[in-house]
Amino acid sequence: MNFLSLISLSVSCKGNQKDLKDTKISKNNIVTIEKSIYGTTAKGEKVESYLLKNQKGMEVSIITYGGIITSLKVPNKKGISEEVVLGFSTLEQYMEPHPYFGALIGRYGNRIANAKFSLDGKTYTLAANNGNNSLHGGPEGFHRVIWAVEEVKEGEAASLKLKYLSKDGEEGFPGNLTVYVTYSLTQENTLDVLYEATTDQKTIVNLTQHTYFNLSGDFSKTVLDHEIVIDADQIVPVDDTLIPTGKFESVANTPFDFRKSKAIGKEINEANEQLKRGLGYDHCWVLNHQEKGFRFAASAYEPISGRLMEVRTTEPGIQLYTGNFLDGTLPTRNGNTYAQRTGFCLETQHYPDSPNQKDFPTTVLKPGEKYQSQTSFAFSIK
Ligand code: GLA
Repeated sequence: MNFLSLISLSVSCKGNQKDLKDTKISKNNIVTIEKSIYGTTAKGEKVESYLLKNQKGMEVSIITYGGIITSLKVPNKKGISEEVVLGFSTLEQYMEPHPYFGALIGRYGNRIANAKFSLDGKTYTLAANNGNNSLHGGPEGFHRVIWAVEEVKEGEAASLKLKYLSKDGEEGFPGNLTVYVTYSLTQENTLDVLYEATTDQKTIVNLTQHTYFNLSGDFSKTVLDHEIVIDADQIVPVDDTLIPTGKFESVANTPFDFRKSKAIGKEINEANEQLKRGLGYDHCWVLNHQEKGFRFAASAYEPISGRLMEVRTTEPGIQLYTGNFLDGTLPTRNGNTYAQRTGFCLETQHYPDSPNQKDFPTTVLKPGEKYQSQTSFAFSIK
């Protein structure tokens, strides 16, 4: 029996196979996967949770609803593993409107102006769910669908391969889009996310992950003391509805310069038109070294816990969103609420509104092509 079948056996026969699984796996020092029931949607669909755990103190929980990361624990400098992502404790809370906590985002992450775009002379109209604009794939985007799951073992890492078929016309987008998102946890405390998609008609794709991090492990604290690096000389400036103006702007001598490590809070309240429009940072940076493919894009460091997170990606852009719209109404897991700026997102992606911006890298996917995008979140202590 190989490890793949050993693991699926231990998962499907939880309980009596548990000892077998634990001894075999720890002896070989690999990442484990444990499946459990998470809940049932209003439509009666079963939702499962998968816990991926390594032997270095890192674990991540992912549910089949929205491909949501509901929990991610990593060690601090004392070796204590703590929760570092914002989240809820029940499926019902994830089914209520919320700002995409932990979710997979698609078919188009970020905004599309006036909820319209054209392909080959035909105009497609999407739902306007953010003023006049479309945001994050629409009201019933990938963050609210049930994903099929396959468990995959490769070397020491363990992966969950999520699959979803987004039908032609769903949320207004053309073409049947088959999407795979593979979450892998390694023994090196890295969570890797691989996005793949194919279509049977010309369409647009821009997939991302919307986890909110607070590396302090203390959700009563803001993230303003987190020190950020973003390897980008320019940003994509936006108008007052957060749609790109079409030009890029240098970060030099602005609060957007994170080329050298800087606390999120250092300049967030400066008088700056872009900061005013975003209520803080809610912008896409034009990443450097795009020709290199998969490369360092950004990092976040929380000095008290010592936790460092490094983000690598194949994408041209990264949206830093500093939880500006969190307003103390959403519940934490332990009875408090998430106040403004208690989490930040680093969403790797193509630039917002690319389908309507002829000078931005294309987000069009044609039949016969394969969309592929990779991002990793590597955790360590500094
Ligand atoms: C993205 C957007 C923000 C906001 C959040 C969720 O980061 O750019 O403006 O919508 O998602 O609230």
